[in-house]
Amino acid sequence: MDAFNLLKADHRKVEELFEELESASGQAKMQVFQQIKTELELHTHIEETIFYPALEEPKQTHDLTLEAYEEHDVVKKLLQELGRARTANEEWEAKAKVLQENVEHHVEEEEGQLFPKASSALGADEIETLGEQMEAEKARKQRSGSKSSKKSASKTKSASTAQKRARASKKGASKSSSKSSGSKKSRSKKSAKKR
Ligand SMILES: [Fe+2]
Repeated sequence: MDAFNLLKADHRKVEELFEELESASGQAKMQVFQQIKTELELHTHIEETIFYPALEEPKQTHDLTLEAYEEHDVVKKLLQELGRARTANEEWEAKAKVLQENVEHHVEEEEGQLFPKASSALGADEIETLGEQMEAEKARKQRSGSKSSKKSASKTKSASTAQKRARASKKGASKSSSKSSGSKKSRSKKSAKKR
């Protein structure tokens, strides 16, 4: 499966889950939320470890990719906060709505801007390879996720995400520092990430 189809299928799945979340209530609502959390954590993981690092380098996709990392951070923070609640009160509902809006915006930007640019920057073969790598990583993560407890899994996840991003931005920074034409704004953003 090529990268775009894989990621788009993830996006559609999460959209459906958000619809379910709106109509569900009580414990069922929290269960749907847990599904959303699992899906989004897996999705952001494969994008951050496989898809985005490949897109950080090309000039056409560089800035949008850095933006996407930041958007993921906001989504992950909201997921953590929402995940701490046992029941859904008014505040939780409001936060869940903000999560949904953030995800929708992010999906729109990916499918509407990042994917078309990635397509011309990387070419069909690499898009296919990235899709295969993400599919394999997703399967690996799902296998290991079902073995470990939820609590330790989420702890490992947040630590490794920070490491992944540091690695990814380090990689991108060393590339862009060799070029003189990189945007100053994104480079300073990167070095801020490194610290
Ligand atoms: Fe994403």
